[in-house]
Formats: sequence, structure tokens, C-alpha cells
Amino acid sequence: SISGSFSAGPGVPAGIKVEGAPAGTSPALLSWVLEVAELTRPDRVVFTDGSDQEWDRLIEHMLGTGTITKLAAKENSYWAASDPTDVARVEDRTYICSVDPADAGATNNWMDPTAMKSIMTALYEGCMTGRTMYVMPFCMGPYDAPNPKLGVEITDSEYVVASMRIMTRMGTKALELINAGNPWVKALHSIGAPLAPGQQDVPWPCNDTKYIVQFPEERTIWSFGSGYGGNALLGKKCYSLRIASVMARDEGWLAEHMLILKITSPAGKVDYLAAAFPSACGKTNLAMLEPTIPGWKVETLGDDIAWMTFGEDGRLYAVNPEYGLFGVAPGTGWNTNPNAMRTIAQGNSLFTNVALTDDGDIWWEGLTEEPPAHLTDWKGRDWTPSGLDEHGRRLDSAGEPSSHPNSRFCTPITQCPIIADEYFEPVGVPISAILFGGRRKTTIPLVTQSRDWQHGVFMGATLSSETTAAATGAVGVVRRDPMAMLPFIGYNAGDYFAHWIDMGKGADESKLPKIFYVNWFRRDADGGFLWPGFGENSRVLKWVIERLDGSAAAVETPIGHVPGEGSLDVDGLGLTADELAAALTVDREEWAAEIPLIEEWFAKIGDSVPTSLRDELDSLKLRLGLS
Ligand code: GDP
Ligand code: PGA
Ligand code: MN
Ligand code: MN
Repeated sequence: SISGSFSAGPGVPAGIKVEGAPAGTSPALLSWVLEVAELTRPDRVVFTDGSDQEWDRLIEHMLGTGTITKLAAKENSYWAASDPTDVARVEDRTYICSVDPADAGATNNWMDPTAMKSIMTALYEGCMTGRTMYVMPFCMGPYDAPNPKLGVEITDSEYVVASMRIMTRMGTKALELINAGNPWVKALHSIGAPLAPGQQDVPWPCNDTKYIVQFPEERTIWSFGSGYGGNALLGKKCYSLRIASVMARDEGWLAEHMLILKITSPAGKVDYLAAAFPSACGKTNLAMLEPTIPGWKVETLGDDIAWMTFGEDGRLYAVNPEYGLFGVAPGTGWNTNPNAMRTIAQGNSLFTNVALTDDGDIWWEGLTEEPPAHLTDWKGRDWTPSGLDEHGRRLDSAGEPSSHPNSRFCTPITQCPIIADEYFEPVGVPISAILFGGRRKTTIPLVTQSRDWQHGVFMGATLSSETTAAATGAVGVVRRDPMAMLPFIGYNAGDYFAHWIDMGKGADESKLPKIFYVNWFRRDADGGFLWPGFGENSRVLKWVIERLDGSAAAVETPIGHVPGEGSLDVDGLGLTADELAAALTVDREEWAAEIPLIEEWFAKIGDSVPTSLRDELDSLKLRLGLS
């Protein structure tokens, strides 16, 4: 490394020290770094290398500022609490700044790129004063992928660097690939909290003004004001979904909000499944599922993002671009997701906005049945268990849970005890079935198989779910969330549907994944879940696998094929016939109420909705006897 060697070079702002940029660093990267440094005026510029020593330095810094607390109970693991205003993705502050507003479409916020850049340039002006500007080269997906997907995130947050080191392949190797001339994405992030000389830092600096902006034509990301999750770890949602979905449209592949799992039947048949559920609707849990039915085995490949492309054999191959798990903490416990528990037990993890126990461990609602007698809650206050909320969640006497509902564990995926060997395969795995799913109290049956690809795309395009705490705003409101990608489609949603249709048209139908729609969250009249979920979802996966070779029976309904009598394995589950029927039923009244919502949705997207999907809606109405 040639520390400091740029501090007097042409174009380098006086007094800024550049550390760790190895000889041979790409001139394009260097000139961008210097341009950003000139604008944001950090005290230091540091290229990250992804080493253990660097991790230790970041940890030490954050222990000093109070950003993190070391956990006595878990090796190399830390507790962080964010500013209470910076707890989730900010969809209303997220923009797709395409040149033409039509390319952002009806589902994205849009602003003219030049106008946005002038607003944000003013915000970035001097915004890193008193801080270190980190230059983080990273790679989404394997380094030895046919076209490695590289990026460089510039950030002034140590928490972001540490999190990106868990979530992505970050450091020297990525820089080498960039220096070798591979294309890379520019991702600029600032928490927007400059420090005046002598000013005391706060544990979680951030700014009330937030912007999460994608410039799709330039493959560029600008983020300002937030330090949390998808707002700030720019390799995740901003790159691997919003920017990548645009690359995928242009290049003929798919960038999707999907888990990837490997499932092996008792006979030893292997299949790979991908599943798209909106944020906080069960992807991480399904990806790490421990089957309750004998002889079935599930292994994990990914829990949030899948990049899918056709292989030479005509099958659709999926790869997980991420390197870590950023999982919803509440609800994760030994009886719901034991493999997540085993993953975090190995240490090397960051926990954000969960509660802290008196003996230096973490706790959240659902980790154990009973909370400890005393906790420090995510806001740093004393917390003692008092009542229960209507979902059986513990609250204190002030009526507050100990952990934020969007609190997260951030942990290396390679620590997952059931990681599949194929995780490291640069071309990924061939997908047999795609599941779309959402969180719906009513209407959507436990599982439905689409009649064909086009009908499956219709199911995905009209997917609906109740909003969750993963994004700011109201929780529990039903909205359309196409392919679970509403917050992540980097272009016009109607064009995105057309791209899905085209992907199918260009393929050999017999090799295409079969498409299913699932709902673990249907409720009975008392508000209880009709289906036990978690490990029991293996029963639905079994039916899906048995549908692939036609060995499981199905009944045709107006909305698709649902399990036929006795075809869903409910052995030993203790569900009554009525309960099972309630989980599976296709209720005409509920669908009569659903159709206008789908019509409204298509009207909102407008002319870009493909004719084939309008045809699907018309035939659905016909089959329901509604037209
Ligand atoms: P993700 O954000 O899509 O990865 O969702 P998670 O797997 O993290 O789950 C989000 C929340 O839903 C957690 O609180 C889980 O405990 C809960 N959850 C996940 N799977 C199920 C299920 O099958 N049934 C029920 N009732 N809850 C679930
Ligand atoms: P999730 O990932 O899908 O696991 O919730 C984070 C997010 O989508 O915000
Ligand atoms: Mn997600
Ligand atoms: Mn998840």
C-alpha cells in the first residue's frame, strides 16, 4: 500500500490523506474517489482491504463511539442500537432517477437526474468533515462468476463498512478485479453528519433528510442520511435489486427478491427452489427450514436475493449475490428457525435494535418463550416484562416491545450449518420451481399452482401482502407487491412484467420452473394462523416437488391448482379437516372483492401492462363467473 501518496497529487484536496490504495489502483476509481473527497471533505480517505485487522480497527472505533457494545456471550459479536428514527428502509425517500420518467413508471418515485444531483450535491458538500471516508471495493456473487458484479461503496460509516464486510465479498480481491478492467458500479453513501472540530460524536449519527437514489442509466447509486440496512449497505437492495434489475432487463436475465434452497427427497432426488416473499414475510425462515417430515432435507443457498439466467442446457440458473444474512430478529428462535440460531451461535455477527441482557447476550421477542427478568431495550432503557400484546408478544409496562420489529441479525452465510456446497458454484443452480408468496389474512390459499408460465407471471404481478416493519410507514395494510419487488424494481413495473413474459417465451416450456403461490399467513375467525408455518412448510414444499413429476394430485379452481384430497401430507400435524379446508379454500366472495383491487393495480401501472396479463385477468374473471 502507498499510504498518503496522493495527498499532494494534482486534483487532490490539500490536507486529505489517502490510505491503503495499492499501487495499480484503477485511475477511474482514483479520480472518482478524489472527486468525492473534494466534495465531502473527509479528514482521511481509507481503502478497505477486508482483512481481520481492519475489522478489529473498525470494532475498536465503534466501541469508542458507543455505536456498538461487545457481547460477552457470543464470540466477536456486537450489539448496536440505531437512532430511533433510522430503523428501516425509507421507501418514500427512494428514487429511480431515470432520464425519462416513463422508465421509472408508476410504482417508483422519480426526479430528473440533474435536479436530483444538484439537491444531493448540496447535501454532500462537506458532509464527511471530521470523519473518515472509506472506499470499499466489493463483489456481488462469486469472484469467479462469468461476469463478476463489482462495485465500490464510498461511505463515512464504520458500521456500514463492518456490515458490508459480512454481507458482501469485500476488499482486496474485488479491487484487483476492478483494476483488471472489469466494469463496476459507483455507490456513494454518507450518513450526512459532519463533525465540527472538537465536536463529540453520537453513537448513531444520521440526518433527518434522507435520499436513497438510483441513476439506472449510469448504474450509479447515491444515498444520504441513513445508516441502516438497505438504505446504507448499497450492495444489497440498491445494487443487487434496483440497479441489477435494469442490467437484467438489458441483458436478458432476472434480478429478484428471492431465497434459494436445495431440497432432497427421501429417494435422493435433488431440486432447487426460489421463492419471492415481501420483506419480513418468511424468506430467511424458509431458506433455512428444518423439515418436519421424515426423510426430507433442506439446504440453504440464499435468503434474500437471486440472480437468474438461462444456462446452456435451457434451464434457469440462480445465484445468490450476497455473502451474509441480514435476518429479521423477532420471531427467530430454536423452535422456529434453529439453523439461524446455530448460525449466530458461531459469533462474528452484528445485532441491531434488539435487546441486551444483563449478562451480555441478546434477546428479542420469540427468542425464548419467556424473556429474562430485566433487559436493556433497543432504545437503551430498562425493560422488564409486563403484559402481552394481541399477538402474544411481550411488552413492558409502557406497552413497548424490547426489540424494534425490524431489528436484525447480520451474520456470515458461510456459518450456516446447512449451507449447500453449490453456494460457491459461480453459475448457480438450476431452478425447478418458483414460489411467490405474501402475508394475507384472507383470500390467498396455502398453496396454488399456476397453469403455465404466463399464468404464473400473472400471479407474481398481482401478488399482494400486508405491509411490515421492514419499511417505514403503516404496518398491516394490504398492497400489491409484484414478485415481492415493489420497492426494488429499478424501472417501469409494466416493462418488468413484459420482461418476465419474454423470458418465458424465449425458453423451452418444459425446462422452465413451475410457478406456485403460497400464503403461510391466512387467519381463522379468531385471528389465529390457519397453518402452523416454519418447519411445517416442508409439507407444502413436498407437494410442490411432487407436482413437478405429477405424482401429487391437484384440483383445478378458477385461480389455479390447489392440493387434491389427501395429496398434502398433513400426517401427524393435528389439523382438523375443516382447518385444512379453510387454509386451502378458494372463496368466491373473497375473490370477488380481490378482482377490483387487481383492476385498480393494472390501471395504476397503465399502458405498459402486457396484453397477456390483461388476458389472464379477463380469463380469471370469466372462470370466477364475474364477467
Ligand atoms: P424475510 O424478511 O422475508 O426474510 O422474513 P423472515 O423469514 O425473516 O420472517 C419474517 C417474520 O415472519 C419473522 O418474525 C418470522 O418469525 C415470521 N415468519 C416466517 N415464516 C413464518 C411462517 O411460516 N409462519 C408464521 N406465522 N410466521 C413466519
Ligand atoms: P428481508 O430483507 O426481505 O429479509 O426483510 C430486508 C428488506 O427487504 O428490507
Ligand atoms: Mn429483502
Ligand atoms: Mn430475510
